Amino acid sequence: MTAQLIDGNALSRQLRTEVAQRAAALKARGTTPGLAVVLVGDNPASQVYVRNKVKACEDSGLHSVLEKYEAEMTEAALLARVQALNNDPSIHGILVQLPLPQHIDAQKVIEAISPAKDVDGFHIASAGALMTGMPGFWPCTPYGCMKMLESLNDGKGYDLKGKHAVVIGRSNIVGKPMALMLLAKNATVTICHSATSDLKAQTLQADVIVAAVGKRNVLTADMVKPGAVVIDVGMNRNDEGKLCGDVDFEGVKNVAGWITPVPGGVGPMTITMLLVNTLEAAERAAGT
Ligand code: GUN
Repeated sequence: MTAQLIDGNALSRQLRTEVAQRAAALKARGTTPGLAVVLVGDNPASQVYVRNKVKACEDSGLHSVLEKYEAEMTEAALLARVQALNNDPSIHGILVQLPLPQHIDAQKVIEAISPAKDVDGFHIASAGALMTGMPGFWPCTPYGCMKMLESLNDGKGYDLKGKHAVVIGRSNIVGKPMALMLLAKNATVTICHSATSDLKAQTLQADVIVAAVGKRNVLTADMVKPGAVVIDVGMNRNDEGKLCGDVDFEGVKNVAGWITPVPGGVGPMTITMLLVNTLEAAERAAGT
């Protein structure tokens, strides 16, 4: 192995300690940061995710409420709940877990969340803020990837200026916001996707590669320039049922300069950035 491991668990612990300290300071001034997590239906993966998010809040001294509803809940009833949470001064962040049942228009629900409480960063106001460099909330997964890049070189950060970054995947949640964040740091950014004709030709040019497709072995050792930074956003299962990413870790770790593992890489960072966004929302609401 030549690559240095980017340890998402260790970085998360460090950032969550800072969150807990800032949360305690805000609490001392009379505001306890509060997150509402809304789960509709009984998707097993979603149940695990929301439990982890609520537990992470509690561990960092944030107030959290978990609202669980039957899969049959109407769209109108969900919109009414979102409205009530928008008006609840004890709640600073609102997260509606996706996917929602088919009969509910997820985009309509996201747009109903007040942008001031959009800690997922999925509202079009948040997307617009990111695109234009205005204050807003950044989606947690790409934000966590940026924090990982900032942690390199003993915390001095990886200088993206003039570097070539290749993002594989173009989702609204990861690929597109990731590309904008890298661009804001003066990287030259290429977005690759399922219709890209020669992915390897692109990734071989890259100083930084972010793989966010949701498919195993999208990136193999022959596709990586020696010394490149490789960030793996994938969450897949291998043939033995073990969690794995989009990157062939065993091969790529011998070529890359830095690499994130799965598990223990981007996953914990996503939840950490949700805590950071919720704290930030509460600090803004309190005028600090
Ligand atoms: N489903 C899977 N990931 C996420 C996430 O980050 N936020 C929400 N709201 N739903 C998700």
